[in-house]
Amino acid sequence: MVHKEALVISGLKKYFGHVKANDGIDLVVRTGTIHAIVGENGAGKSTLMNSLFGLHQPDSGEIYLWGEKVLFSSPLQALAHGIGMVHQHFMLVEALSVLENIILGAEPGKGILLNYKNSRKTVEEICHKYGLELDLDALVENVPVGIQQRIEIVKVLYRGARLIILDEPTAVLIPQEIDRMFEILREFKRDGCTVIFITHKLHEVMALADDVTVIRDGRTVGHWPISQVNEKILARQMVGREVVLDLVKEETKPSELILQVQGLQTEQVNGDQSAEDLSFNIRAGEILGIVGVAGNGQDALIEGILGLRKVEKGEILYLGEAINGVNTSHLRQKGISCISADRLKTGLVREFSVRENAILGYQKSKEFVSKLLFHKKKINHYAQQIIKEFQIKTPSLDALITQLSGGNQQKLIIGRELHANPKLIIAVQPTRGVDIGAIEFIYQVLLECRRKNAAILLISNELEEVLSLSDRVAVLYQGRFMGSNAPNRLTKESIGLMMAGVRTEGEGEPV
Ligand SMILES: Nc1ncnc2c1ncn2[C@@H]1O[C@H](COP(=O)(O)OP(=O)(O)O)[C@@H](O)[C@H]1O
Ligand SMILES: [Mg+2]
Repeated sequence: MVHKEALVISGLKKYFGHVKANDGIDLVVRTGTIHAIVGENGAGKSTLMNSLFGLHQPDSGEIYLWGEKVLFSSPLQALAHGIGMVHQHFMLVEALSVLENIILGAEPGKGILLNYKNSRKTVEEICHKYGLELDLDALVENVPVGIQQRIEIVKVLYRGARLIILDEPTAVLIPQEIDRMFEILREFKRDGCTVIFITHKLHEVMALADDVTVIRDGRTVGHWPISQVNEKILARQMVGREVVLDLVKEETKPSELILQVQGLQTEQVNGDQSAEDLSFNIRAGEILGIVGVAGNGQDALIEGILGLRKVEKGEILYLGEAINGVNTSHLRQKGISCISADRLKTGLVREFSVRENAILGYQKSKEFVSKLLFHKKKINHYAQQIIKEFQIKTPSLDALITQLSGGNQQKLIIGRELHANPKLIIAVQPTRGVDIGAIEFIYQVLLECRRKNAAILLISNELEEVLSLSDRVAVLYQGRFMGSNAPNRLTKESIGLMMAGVRTEGEGEPV
């Protein structure tokens, strides 16, 4: 008889220095169910799973697997006990083939070559059974992320896992792939497997899970059968206060042409997708959302506009003036702001304080400096103002920027970039890695800018975000637009097809 509970965790603690990543986690996962674990970014979800999987040693607490008390000192041990994990960041060897990645290390002691044929057959059977198509001989470095994830899943199945953990698996998938993944997970369940599904997307929990556990600040705040909760309840539990999930988007009348991009062709850099003859306009008071699977020319488009990548052909006009190749700091002075996802790469300087980061890019502005002297008082006042207006939680102005949570770092960038009332805002994944509370705030700020007649180019992998904020949505595929339309004239399915390069009826007019 299989034990009723696949997994019981009680009082688990794991500290990193004084960061209490897990500070008393309780979790009960019934055998043969799909159990969702939700929590904001940094709540401690991955840490918990890593402790279970033998990647971390917990400081205290107990773990029972099918009734047996366990504590693994390595993932190999966890695997041997039937736990499989699909990590948030894939752990594949790029230079090896798909098949090699799947069977690698699964049979320690036995020569891989010896069993190659048998292994291949087993892998083929697994792929066939679950409809997980894979080209087993392709090199991993040549397969897209969605497929890499499929490899990770087959790898877990190949090792015979009975408890399968997926850490934020839907982030890299298009809507159709997400639906497909949910079907596969339900099939695992029918086969008697137990699934732990980690996410911060509440509609996914509602669509898939039997039970849900919410984690906040390293602690379990509660667990429920799915029939007893809804998205609103879960959001409140996650954040610890009421959350407004519905956006109020007023009608605006897009007016003056702010940005015109005509036939943009960018240089190809390091095998990255270039922009291929992209044309579009954005007017004042309008949000143009661009979606696409990552790596379809988003970077080329942004870097082309911001003067960070060579434009080979085409014209970029801002208020009627050509800005091809103008550098970012000049663009700022002209009223173009950029909010980027890669906070610690492009938006902030890790070694700088909150105060220094608050004026980054504007440090030469007359407001702050004259005759090489910084106006300390003005800078302080300005930084304080941003902190207050954008509700940024920071110990002090002198704190290092890295001491702030991701959400607060992002708010600082947004505060800084929007302070000067820009006419054009380029928002690239503005809510990536940001918790629900901050997301709500960022959405409201962007809509406020739209109300104040800014033109906004929104580029994001979060489909819901683009659909709810944008006035028009364009789908990018291999550097070109597959189509564009008003969000209410598009369905998730039609967008998903376009993201996969299939032309549909929903593609509408030119952008
Ligand atoms: N190896 C580590 N060293 C130090 N701090 C860590 C480490 N791993 C995670 N943390 C911190 O622990 C907290 C929980 O992180 P994590 O478990 O990744 O959260 P989640 O997966 O819910 O987003 C965060 O504050 C994170 O910065
Ligand atoms: Mg995580």
